Amino acid sequence: MALSEIAQKVGTPCYVYSHRTLERHFNVFAQALDGIPHLICYSMKANSNRSILQIFLQRGGGLDIVSGGELYRAMQAGAAPQKIVFSGVGKTEAEIAMALQADILMFNVESEGELERIQHVASQQGIKARVALRVNPDIDPKTHPYIATGLKKSKFGIAINDALRLFEKAKTLSHIAVHGVDCHIGSQITELDPFVDALHKLKELIHDLRSQYQLPIRYLDLGGGLGIPYQDETPPHPDEYAARIREETEGLDCTLIFEPGRVLVGNAGLLLTEVQYLKRHEEKTFVIVDSGMNHLIRPALYQAWQAIQPVKKRAGQPWVVDVVGPICESGDFFALDRELSPVEPGDLLAVMSSGAYGYSMASQYNSYPRPAEVLVKGAAFAVIRERESYSELSRGENTPLFDL
Ligand code: LLP
Repeated sequence: MALSEIAQKVGTPCYVYSHRTLERHFNVFAQALDGIPHLICYSMKANSNRSILQIFLQRGGGLDIVSGGELYRAMQAGAAPQKIVFSGVGKTEAEIAMALQADILMFNVESEGELERIQHVASQQGIKARVALRVNPDIDPKTHPYIATGLKKSKFGIAINDALRLFEKAKTLSHIAVHGVDCHIGSQITELDPFVDALHKLKELIHDLRSQYQLPIRYLDLGGGLGIPYQDETPPHPDEYAARIREETEGLDCTLIFEPGRVLVGNAGLLLTEVQYLKRHEEKTFVIVDSGMNHLIRPALYQAWQAIQPVKKRAGQPWVVDVVGPICESGDFFALDRELSPVEPGDLLAVMSSGAYGYSMASQYNSYPRPAEVLVKGAAFAVIRERESYSELSRGENTPLFDL
């Protein structure tokens, strides 16, 4: 399927995803875990388009959610509640009530306050809430500080030194059923060691919980975090990751839960954008395109490097350029000092590896509508989300009764 044809029919900017790659990524991950009792709960924050969720749901996946909105969208996509886990440090009473009503598999509890709140809401509903406690194992995942979550100083999870006390407390709560232990140490992790180090700590904890507190821990949730190649990273293949985990969990007698996000969708999508202007300053050449940090914030927020390719390559020596968007912020760039073959206004560029945390982090900043999303399958493509319209930009705005 030619990207130029998609651009012509759908317009730019738009996200384009490959059905075949999404399917393959899920199958590779699932096959790597073959024989290990497990559940793959795709972390839908990476990309929550309904059609994408359904590709994974239809192949036996569940979902990792972090908000009422994600629960709503998960149910809309037809997810089985028994395959949904609910993570996140800020669950409100309303969100907890909604998840209890839906009868999800488990809450990944991130604090003592949350544990008490779940007990309270479950008692109001007269039911028992299934929980795992998310433990913060204090492991350095060696990734960008904004996406490291398992360090002592991070807001996530329950400090490992406090975990036994909280498990003991959870055991005494009338409307709580402790089913598991959970951790998620960070994202875009490109080595196996941090995962294995965390697993060692959790295994020790499970051992203590079973022997000292007679808690029947049935689930071990290892979170997500497996990295992908954006440039020259060489993250472990899912086969290596799974082999190591298989080895380490032999005889543990737990169903393993995984919450992969990026590894399933990241390299299955790109952002298609059109060059608007070339602008030369004394020291810089800017390629100004019709999309920016409003649609893909990763370069601006994490100094993330993503490949950029012209859809049709022009002859000539590469230039060194900044690829920037139209947003009124100096941080609005896709690439700085990047070698790019020559381009002209009207040319299409593909910002690669944009399937994860692209659209899901997009905003309407500067009142640009959010882009369309397109799914390609073989020789066909479908618009799986319409481009936002101008009228949607002011949807829900009211004029107050008092004078302005
Ligand atoms: N589980 C939990 C509890 C998480 O917080 C996350 C991601 C995942 C699973 C999925 O992690 P993954 O497999 O995708 O690494 N916006 C950042 C990434 C933020 C990750 C947040 N949590 C980025 O664009 O790099």
